[in-house]
Amino acid sequence: EQVAAALQEAEAQAASAPAAPQEVTVLFGSQTGNSHKLAKKLSGRLQDQGAQVTLSAMIDFKPNTLKKVQHLVIIVSTHGEGDPPDNAISFYEFLHSKRAPQLEGMPFTVLALGDTSYELFCKTGRDFDQRLEELGGKRLAPRVDCDVDYDESAENWMAGVLAYFGQASASASAQTSKAADPSAVGAGQLTEYSRSRPFQADVLENLNLNGRGSEQETRHLELALADSGLRYEPGDSLGIYPRNHPRLVDELIEAMGWQSDVRVVLPKSTEERSLKEALTSHCEITVLTKPLIEQVAELAPGNGLKDWLLSSEEQDIRAYLKGRDLLDLAQDYDWTGVTANSFVSLLRKMPPRLYSIASSLKSFPEEVHLTIRNVRYEAHGRVRYGVCSTFVSEQLEPGETVPVFVQDNPNFKLPSNPDTPVIMIGPGTGVAPFRAFLGEREELGAEGKTWLFYGDRHFSSDFLYQVEWQRWLKEGVLTRMDVAFSRDTEQKVYVQHRMMEKSKELYQWIEEGAAVYVCGDEKKMAHDVQAALIAILKQEGGLGDEDAAAYLTKMQQEKRYQRDVY
Ligand code: 2AM
Repeated sequence: EQVAAALQEAEAQAASAPAAPQEVTVLFGSQTGNSHKLAKKLSGRLQDQGAQVTLSAMIDFKPNTLKKVQHLVIIVSTHGEGDPPDNAISFYEFLHSKRAPQLEGMPFTVLALGDTSYELFCKTGRDFDQRLEELGGKRLAPRVDCDVDYDESAENWMAGVLAYFGQASASASAQTSKAADPSAVGAGQLTEYSRSRPFQADVLENLNLNGRGSEQETRHLELALADSGLRYEPGDSLGIYPRNHPRLVDELIEAMGWQSDVRVVLPKSTEERSLKEALTSHCEITVLTKPLIEQVAELAPGNGLKDWLLSSEEQDIRAYLKGRDLLDLAQDYDWTGVTANSFVSLLRKMPPRLYSIASSLKSFPEEVHLTIRNVRYEAHGRVRYGVCSTFVSEQLEPGETVPVFVQDNPNFKLPSNPDTPVIMIGPGTGVAPFRAFLGEREELGAEGKTWLFYGDRHFSSDFLYQVEWQRWLKEGVLTRMDVAFSRDTEQKVYVQHRMMEKSKELYQWIEEGAAVYVCGDEKKMAHDVQAALIAILKQEGGLGDEDAAAYLTKMQQEKRYQRDVY
C-alpha cells in the first residue's frame, strides 16, 4: 500500500514538476553495499532521463553545500539497534544538530533499508525523513521502508522518483523496472550473475580450521568461480543462498499437518514448488517478525494468536519473537485447516548471507575462499542451528554446488598506494578479509608495512590460518603480528589489550599515515576496539575527548579507518 501510494503521489506530482534538466543530489549511507548499489542504479536512470546527478556517500558530502542542493534523494540502511552505517554517521549528526540549515521547501525523498525482525526497523531512514521535513523540506515522493528482500519495494520507490523527475509516465516506469530485472538480459548483453541471479559455484574444499579439542568449528570453504565472470577485490563479500536444515523443514511440515509434496506458490513470485522445496530453499523459516505473525494470525483468527497480539504489550510480543522460529509458532498455536499455500505466501524470501571474502583473486585465480564459523546455541528448550553455517558445515562436500554472488564493499578497501602502512584488527572470523589483503599485497610485491592483531579462544586449537601468517611474517609480507588468546589464561586478553600495550608504536604508524581496518563482531569487539583507538589517540597524541573523536572521524573521511562488522 505504501508503495502504491508512493507511485500515485509521484504521478500526481509529476504533472506539476518543473521541466528538465534538473539537478539531483543522491546521497547514500551504506554498510554492506546495498544502499550504494541502489544509489548507483537510480543515478544512472536519472541521468538517462536527462537529470544532472551528483552521487555521493554521505561521508564525502560537504554539509555546508546542503543549502544549494535542488533535490535531495537519500538511500540509507539501518544497522544493529537502529544505528546509521559508518559512512552516514557524520551527516546524520550534522543534520540532527543545530548547525543544520533550514531547507525551505527543498524537495526530498528517502529510501530506507532495514530488517523487520528488528524493533527499530529502518530507524535511520525514518529519522532522515522526519528531520528533513522538520527542516522545511517537502517530500517529492513518500519514504519507502524496505525489508531484507528489498528489490520490489526499491524498484517501486525508484519508479516514483523517476516519475517525479519527468518524462517517466506509469508505462515508462514499468519499462524501467523491467529493464532493471537482472534475469531479463537483452540480446548481445553479457549475462551477469547477481544477487537476484546467483551463480552455482562448485565446492572445491571444505575444511574445519579448528583443531582437536576445540569447542568451536570454523569452516574454510573454497569455491570455484570458473567462467562465471565473477570478479572481486579484497574487502568484498560473497553472498550465499543457504538451505534450511532438513530436519527443521520436516518437523515444521509435520507440526502443521501439511503434505510435503503439495504445490505452493513461492513468496513474492508466481512460481510453484513442492512445499518441501519451498521451505528448504526459498523461504525464511527461522526468524519470526512482527509483521509476519500479525499476518499469519489472520489465517486462523480463532487459535488465540490474534487475541494475544491485540492484548499484549509491544515488549512482550518482541520477547516471544526473539529466538523463536516457525516451528515454535506451529507448536504453540493450532493451525488446523490453514493451507500451506496461504501460509507460505506470507513468508519472507530466503535472504542470502554475506561473508567477507578470505582470498585474493591474484593468489587464487578463479576461486573464492570463505571463513565461516558454526553458529549453534540453545534457546527455548531446543538447540538452534545457524542456517548458513550449518548448511556449509553439513551439506557442502566437495562436488556439491552452492548459489553465490559477489557483493562489492567500497567501504573496506586496501589503500590504492601499496606503500601505505596497514593495521588490521580481526579476531575470530574477522581475520578473513586480512588473509585476502595480505595475499593481494604479496602478489603486488607491495612495500607498505602491515600489522595484524588477531585473537581467538585458544592458541592450540583456534589459531585460524596460523601457518599462513607465519609464512607471511617470515617473508616480510606481514611486518608484525600480535595475538590475544582469550581463554588460555585466568584473565581474558583481547586484541584491544594488545593494542594498548603497543600504543606508542600504533600511534606512530597512524601518524605515518597507516590505514586501520577492523573486521568482526560489531556489538562488543568493534565497539571496544574503537574505544581503544580513541584512548591511544588521547594518550599518545595528547588529545582531549573531542579532538580524539574528530581525529578518528577525519581518518574515516580519508578512508583510513574502515570497518566491516557484523
Ligand atoms: P571470548 O569468547 O573468550 O570472550 C573471537 O571470537 C575472539 O574474540 C574470542 O577470543 C573472544 O573472546 C573475543 N572477544 C569477545 N568479546 C570481545 C570484545 N569485547 N573485544 C575483543 N574481543 C572479544
